[in-house]
Amino acid sequence: MTANNSTDQKLDKAVRVAVLGAAGGIGQPLSLTLKMNIHVKELSLYDVSPHVSGVAADLSHIDTPAKVSWHTPDNGGLPAALDGCDFVLVPAGVPRKPGMSRDDLFKINAGICAELASGIAQYCPTATVLVISNPVNSTVPVFAEVFKKNGTFNPRKLFGVTTLDSVRADTFIHEVMPDLNWGLIKVIGGHSGDTIVPLLSTVLGQDIKSLSHMQLHAINHRVQYGGDEIIQAKKGLGSSTLSMAYAAQKFFTTVLSSYLGLTDKNIACTFINTEFDNEALDGVNELKQIVRKLTGRPDLDLKYFAMPCVFGPNGIERVQYECLEHLDSTEVEMVKVCCETLPSNYSKGIDFVRGK
Ligand code: NAI
Repeated sequence: MTANNSTDQKLDKAVRVAVLGAAGGIGQPLSLTLKMNIHVKELSLYDVSPHVSGVAADLSHIDTPAKVSWHTPDNGGLPAALDGCDFVLVPAGVPRKPGMSRDDLFKINAGICAELASGIAQYCPTATVLVISNPVNSTVPVFAEVFKKNGTFNPRKLFGVTTLDSVRADTFIHEVMPDLNWGLIKVIGGHSGDTIVPLLSTVLGQDIKSLSHMQLHAINHRVQYGGDEIIQAKKGLGSSTLSMAYAAQKFFTTVLSSYLGLTDKNIACTFINTEFDNEALDGVNELKQIVRKLTGRPDLDLKYFAMPCVFGPNGIERVQYECLEHLDSTEVEMVKVCCETLPSNYSKGIDFVRGK
């Protein structure tokens, strides 16, 4: 989106956005997309790397309204970076190298996330927070627990960014079914290996029968492990950065449009906290009941899960639990597998902050 006359009237609706980890492989292209967004009036770039000053200087020459500032621990630190921010996007931390799982990143990234979460709780406690740092299944709980400790937690405004899974599902299904509409595939569960559950049947309907079991398995597996292809192709020099920046800006645009009231009934999948009842997050009780039924585990206390959500000015308005009501047998099996692993993933994040 760039500025032009037809959109001038919307320029008064604009936000201050911080990117934490802005000098990194994701942070740089993501910051570029934010600089191109006419609804961003201030773009605050933070990183522990001094290279972030160059990223800010480079972006500041682009002819869009957003005013770019940069911050490091020696240049204003988190107080200056976060002051007055409406949105905080977090791609800070280390990425995977060949042979590593997202879980292997936890030890380093959990500490980074806890530090950044404390800063957000202190300097922009009402901001909407988009967590990109992996392992998302564990880092989102780190953010939630730090926010809870500080009394600033709002489950409607904390999101694990899982959009890349939906983007991949869409791309890979189009390789075999090019005539489908784009952007409809929901991916639920978690954001790591077999916790990722693409719901292909909800879009394909009866057409799913035109794909063989092998084809379906291959697509599901590629969505779950597609990140490994990139790590191998980059030969140890990084993981998904450009496709991730694309996915993050896609999700951010959905949340921002809802926040500013530019469009309504925006829907996207995201990894959310499900601990609270319907009063905090409409549809969450139904979600938990259905997952208990699907997994045959009546005692399952699901605390986090990725789901399609409807967004409004105050964040998530409701969780679209209905998408779980018509899963096919393969998808039910995948939900069961997901729920074997996911609780230990999110418990890791919870325990990290609670000091267990
Ligand atoms: P990168 O290493 O290129 O960039 C990370 C940046 O974070 C660096 O500039 C580094 O200086 C900065 N950083 C480190 N500690 C920091 C701190 N305490 N405060 C502020 N900045 C700090 O890594 P890349 O490729 O950009 O990936 C970032 C994260 O995103 C990784 O954890 C990666 O696994 C994750 N990721 C998530 C995806 C998703 O779908 N949610 C997809 C791909 C990657």
